[in-house]
Order: sequence, then C-alpha cells, then structure tokens
Amino acid sequence: MQRIPNKYQLLVFIFLINILSSQAQMLHKDYSSQADSVLQLMTLEEKIGQLNQYSNDRKNTGPVINNKNHLEEIRKGKVGSMLNVTSVSRAKQYQEEAMKSRLRIPLLFGMDVVHGMKTIFPIPMGEAASFDLELMRKTAEIAAAEASAHGLHWTFAPMIDIARDARWGRVMEGAGEDTWYGSEVAKARVKGFQGNNYNDRRTVLACAKHFAAYGVAIAGKDYTGADISENTLHQVYLPPFRAAIEADVATFMSAFNDVNGIPATAHKPLMRDLLKETWKFNGFVVSDWGSVGELQNHRVAANAEEAALLAVTAGCDMDMCSASYIGNLEKLVKEGKVDIAIIDDAVKRILTKKFELGLFDDPFGYNYREAELDDELINKAHRKIAREAGNKSIVLLKNNAALPLPGTVRNIALVGPLCTSRWDMIGNWGAMGKPEYVTTILDGFKTALPNCKITHIEGYDPRTNEIKELPELSGFDVIIVAVGEKASESGEAKSKVDININSNHQQLVKRLKEESNKPVIALVMGGRPLVFSAMEPYADAILVTWWLGVEAGNSIADVITGKYNPSAKLPMTYPRHSGQCPIYYNHKSTGRPWSKDNQYTSRYIDEDIRPAYPFGYGLSYTTFHISAPVLSKEQYGFNEKIILKTTVKNTGNYKGKETVQLYLQDVVSSVTRPVIELCGFQQVELEKGEEREIEFVLTSKDLGFFNIYNEFVTEPGEFKLFVGNSSENATMLKSASFYLAK
Ligand code: NOJ
Repeated sequence: MQRIPNKYQLLVFIFLINILSSQAQMLHKDYSSQADSVLQLMTLEEKIGQLNQYSNDRKNTGPVINNKNHLEEIRKGKVGSMLNVTSVSRAKQYQEEAMKSRLRIPLLFGMDVVHGMKTIFPIPMGEAASFDLELMRKTAEIAAAEASAHGLHWTFAPMIDIARDARWGRVMEGAGEDTWYGSEVAKARVKGFQGNNYNDRRTVLACAKHFAAYGVAIAGKDYTGADISENTLHQVYLPPFRAAIEADVATFMSAFNDVNGIPATAHKPLMRDLLKETWKFNGFVVSDWGSVGELQNHRVAANAEEAALLAVTAGCDMDMCSASYIGNLEKLVKEGKVDIAIIDDAVKRILTKKFELGLFDDPFGYNYREAELDDELINKAHRKIAREAGNKSIVLLKNNAALPLPGTVRNIALVGPLCTSRWDMIGNWGAMGKPEYVTTILDGFKTALPNCKITHIEGYDPRTNEIKELPELSGFDVIIVAVGEKASESGEAKSKVDININSNHQQLVKRLKEESNKPVIALVMGGRPLVFSAMEPYADAILVTWWLGVEAGNSIADVITGKYNPSAKLPMTYPRHSGQCPIYYNHKSTGRPWSKDNQYTSRYIDEDIRPAYPFGYGLSYTTFHISAPVLSKEQYGFNEKIILKTTVKNTGNYKGKETVQLYLQDVVSSVTRPVIELCGFQQVELEKGEEREIEFVLTSKDLGFFNIYNEFVTEPGEFKLFVGNSSENATMLKSASFYLAK
C-alpha cells in the first residue's frame, strides 16, 4: 500500500521540486531524480494513468473511440497525455482538470503538426525535394513555435519511414526513398521542432515515427506487414531512426505493421533491446493510434489484456487510444505477469519529459491567449519562409523553352479546379491550417502579373473528373493547367493500385494543346510520384508542384515567371507504370543486369525497365556542367580523409542553383550492395558563366554497411564515386576509383 502524503507534505514537495527543477533547467541537468521523487509518491493506478493517452473527443485521427469519461479520468490521474486538442481553451480546460488530480501531474498535449500548424508549408516530400536541410529545420522550427503557442508540447513528427512504393499514400509525409538523405532530413526536422532546449516555450518534443519499417507497406497497402530481411531492415529502414536519436529526439512512435512476424508495437527485439538497450534511447515510445489493441487483430494476443502485456513488455510506454493499458495493466502487475520495474521505467521516461518541458513549473505555460493567435502565428515572416519553401520544392521535369514565361505574354489561361482550390493546397495533415490563409494559384498569378489578363477555366469537374466544355483557346498566349491529386488522395489509408493521373486530366492536357496550339504548361499536384505518360508529349513544360501550403499560388507564380529559377530534385523515383512499383534507384546489383540487347536480363517484356524520372532529377532554367571527379589519392588508409573535387559551371543563360550529388559504389563486398547510393550532396548557386570547384570529404565510416551478422563494417577494397545532378546521369559521368587499404 502506497503512503498517501497529506496536503502540507505535498505542497512542500512540489515547492522543492519546482526549485530543483528550475535550477536544473538553467543548468541543463538531468531530471531523473525529480522524476524518481514523483514516482515514489504514485499509486499503481496513477502510474498506469501516465501511460494512457486519449484523443480530444472533438477531433479524431483514427477510428473513433468512446472516451466519454475522459474528463473524470483526468481528474482521477488516469490520463497522462491527450492528443488532438486543437484549441487553447480546451487545452486549458483539460490541464485544469489534471490540476485537480491528487498529484497534480500535468498532461502532455500532442498533435500531428507535420508540415506546419497554421502557416502550412509544402508537404514533407515536397520540401525534401528542395534538398535544403536548413530550410527544413527552419520550417519545423516555425511549426513548433506556432504549435507551442497553441498549447501543444509535442508533435507526432517527423515521419522518417523510407518509402519506395508510390502506391503507398503516406510517401507524402516523409523524405522519399533514400536512406542516407532520409537520415539527414530526420536530423534537420528533429532539430527544428525541438531546438536546443526542451524547456524553450517555442519548441515542442518531436516524435520519430513509425518504428519500424512501416514504409515497406507490401504492394503499397497501408497497415500491411514488413516481411523483409534483417539486413534490409538494418541497412535501409533503421538508419533514419538512429539519426533521430543522434539529434536527441524525445519520443518514438511504434508502427502499425508487423516486422518479420512480430507487430511493431509488441516488438521487444526492436523496442526494448535495440532502441532502449543498444541505442540507449532515453525518451519514451508511444504506440500508434489503437495499435496496442490491434495486437488482437494481428492475432498475437487473444484479448486486450494479452495485448497490454505484450506491448508494455516489449517497451511501448504509452498507449494511444486503445485503453488497453488503463484497463488491464493494474491486474497484470498484481498477478505478477508484468514486473513493476517495467511500469516504473515507462512512467519515469514520461515524467522526465514533462520535467524537461518545464510543465511541473508551469502547467499552463504553453497556453497563449487564443485571440492573439492568428496575427501572431500566421504572420508575414512565417509566410515569407513558406513562399521560399514553395519555391525551392517545385521540380521542373520538362521544359521545351516554354519557361520562364516570356515578358511578351499578355493573355494567360489557368485551367483546372486546383487553380482556385484552397483546401487542396494545404494537403493532408494540415494541422490547424485554414483555407482562408491560402493564396490560390489564380490569386498568385494575378498579383505576379498585374499587366496580364488571366482567365480561369474550370477544365474538369473536381468531383467526377469529367472534362467540361472548353472555350475558344487560340487567343491565349499560354495555357497553364493544374492536374493530379486532390489533397484527399494521398496520406494515411490512401493507398492506390493505379498511380496514373486521372485519364481525363491527361486527355484535357492533350486537348488544350491541340485546340490552342500554344505553349501548355502542366502543374502536377499530389502527394506521391504519379504517372502521366499519356499527357507528357502534349505539355511543353511540366512542373511537380505537390501541395505547397499557404503560399502555393505565389510560389508557383514565382517559378513560372522566372522570379525563382527552379532548383528542386526528386526525392523519389517517378515510375513510368504503376506495375514498376516499388522502384528505387539504389536497388541491388543482379546477376543479370538489364541490357536492351539481351533478353535474358532483368527487364519487363511489356514496359521499359527504367523510370520516367529518376531520383535526384530536376531541371533548371539554366544548364550546368559538372566535371569528372578527381580524388586526392588512389589509395587511402582507414583513418584517412577521402577528398574528392569537382567543378560545376553554369553553362546556360540564367543564374541558378545546382544540387551536385555524390554517389558511392562498393565494387566488391561480402553482401550484395546497391548499384550506387547517395553519400553526399552540395548546392551551388552560380551566375551565368560562373564556375566553382567543390569538395566532398568522406571517411571510412561513410563506406560502411551491415554485414551478414548485421554488424556495421567497412570492408577494404575498391570503391567508386560518381558525381552528377541526378542518380541517372551520375553514372554516365566518369567515376573516380580508389582503394581502401587493409
Ligand atoms: C495514426 C498515424 O499513423 C500516426 O502517424 C499519427 O501520428 C496518429 N494516427 C495520431 O494522429
């Protein structure tokens, strides 16, 4: 039986904790002893309460759950965290209830703030196309500032799942298919959300999700299992999570899927052994929505009690929305099936974060006044970054000298309902973004080109996709048409078997070209790589414009008019046919590599094996020449720096930015390795005619991989390095070879 402190003892205790904790915050001390002191006062019921998370009953981001009594449960100390609390007043109300509980342990408020809170930035995959890590850090920082001002302490982001199958709707949330790049983006986003100090009221805790291998999504189907080799798991899917820990990520979320036979939420080898023991992760793990309860659907647990037993033992600390912990852990502990040490460890991890956030000092510190929010949050400075992020995310795929728009253009047709849509520019996971904050494409063009006549033509019905009657088109100087996905077509539970752009949209592009005989520019919107080979020949220029957020219209107008020269690169391969999925540039070597002259090679008989547009691809209005790479030596020792130089020259007519990509090939290794893999990149901005030498420095660690025993090793031998401005043309340039000595 726990000793219940009287009111006086409690007040003294809380006073002492406050003094200790504020001193510790100033000194960046470890909060573990404070967490221990609170833990000692807690009953078993209160401890289990800390492991329980409910959703605000006014917003659900998963199957609806019945939590009518959550206010009462909060008062009883039976809830540790709430998600989806979207208003300051509601957050205050919940926190006030928590302050009525016996130990007054504050609630932690979490939400999916994925690409902005109110100032919505491009969707994460779009932003990843910028290859601008500082930009991604910055947009996460702004998202965190807006979220924390809204009373939130914690975002369920970044999603750092490597995604190689465009049929999977969630590819939009991540950084694409490359593990090395995905790890860099993971670090940038975690740092952006969290800043340097959890206690800073403008930052929030980040959450590395979904641990692990959720992106495998067999056949692109959401929530399916990941049946992959241990080697692929370690080599491809786990490194971004390791990188997130390097960036000091506060929390992890377990994935819905099973990993090689064990659902991720019950995966002891991954969560308790690897994450907590080997990687020494000291934050806490939250389940995904209902995933503890879903262990029953996976058929590894016969009932909610078994599900709770499996998940908590495996290292899942907090139960999001399945109520399996709150309903069963007390009994499991009392029956000796769950060791109290496991519960204490989980509770301590959660309490520590609450201390680090400064919540014990001031449980209401994050709750600003709602009335001020709009002006304060969706302000000019934030919008400026959103516009810059939009500029830098747009990928130019094709340009038959149609862009930038010549100054002689006076009469422009903007075609398609996406040109006036606000909701779709916000994209999936729009947090508190509102349509009224969005600059539409039409508005963006009107502002950018005040001397032009701009006519909007509906083009097709947004609901049925039927082509609408088209007016006479020959009078326009140029036609800009937006096609592709609505925001509701990519995201969670938005898997597709066919990633072709709707055939009517593609037919529309053809008709616009044939009926106008004027330059037609296609804007491809969407959250995933799409296939559009039917319209491709009829578009003079094609731009991937994702869903760019609140500044979508201005960002697109900047690029079309040449105010911003496009610089983005595809973070995911664009297939030419859905049947090629999953398709990625860094596939393994095969015994029979594709050759167009030999039928007994790795190929399709009904389609080209190559993608439509490769990873790393993206054009500029200017052209660049990248010279063959030169290495400082032919042979290196294990502790030597490998230095490679190359020269980039702007050979075209505009100032522009190139992303020079460095790819590695381990020529012979003990396990099969990718044909090439990205190991570095640099962005260089050059005036017309300017050239610059750039240098890449690698160490032997950069040449390493997981061997057959899943140990990270670097094997001596020959390596090749390639430079280029896409994964495809890099291999066409002359490579530089070197030996790593034994
Ligand atoms: C389910 C999603 O998989 C996850 O990413 C999200 O954070 C939770 N729902 C909460 O909304």
